[in-house]
Amino acid sequence: MLSEKLVDALNEQMKNEFYSAYLYMALSGYFESEDLPGIASWMRIQAMEELTHGEKFFNFICEAGGRTDLRGFDKPENQFASPLSAFEFSIKHEQFVTRSINELMDLAKAEQNHAVQIFLQWFVTEQVEEEASFGLILKKLERIGDDGNGLLRLDDELGQRVFVPPAAG
Ligand code: FEO
Repeated sequence: MLSEKLVDALNEQMKNEFYSAYLYMALSGYFESEDLPGIASWMRIQAMEELTHGEKFFNFICEAGGRTDLRGFDKPENQFASPLSAFEFSIKHEQFVTRSINELMDLAKAEQNHAVQIFLQWFVTEQVEEEASFGLILKKLERIGDDGNGLLRLDDELGQRVFVPPAAG
């Protein structure tokens, strides 16, 4: 059983996850335009992961007896000053997502809704991993600085990423 307030908050987080997919597709387009196909591919895979996150919320809302409410969102940022600033922007977005997951968990705790807390646990762990992976790339870009060869090596490395669908649930 979900309160109206929890259904609203779960729908809002579903929007944040689907928006993340849209934003990372925009970032993929930016890296394509910079002739960095490996980083563009990494971002596209990130977008695919975010779609699965949004779908997890969709499925949970339905299973828990709530009503899904797909919401609109603003145009994402499409242009960045540099690869470094694109990743600075991305990690700020992930920090926003972490805060919003934590607020949702606080609400589920306040309402003593155990099912929502257990559902959200996966996302709490996932956000630690997301911030760590974006943070690591950001550090590498800081070290690379103006070294074009270093940037091409990073492009090769990130191009190796493959999409792994998360476990159901
Ligand atoms: Fe699903 Fe990167 O937040």
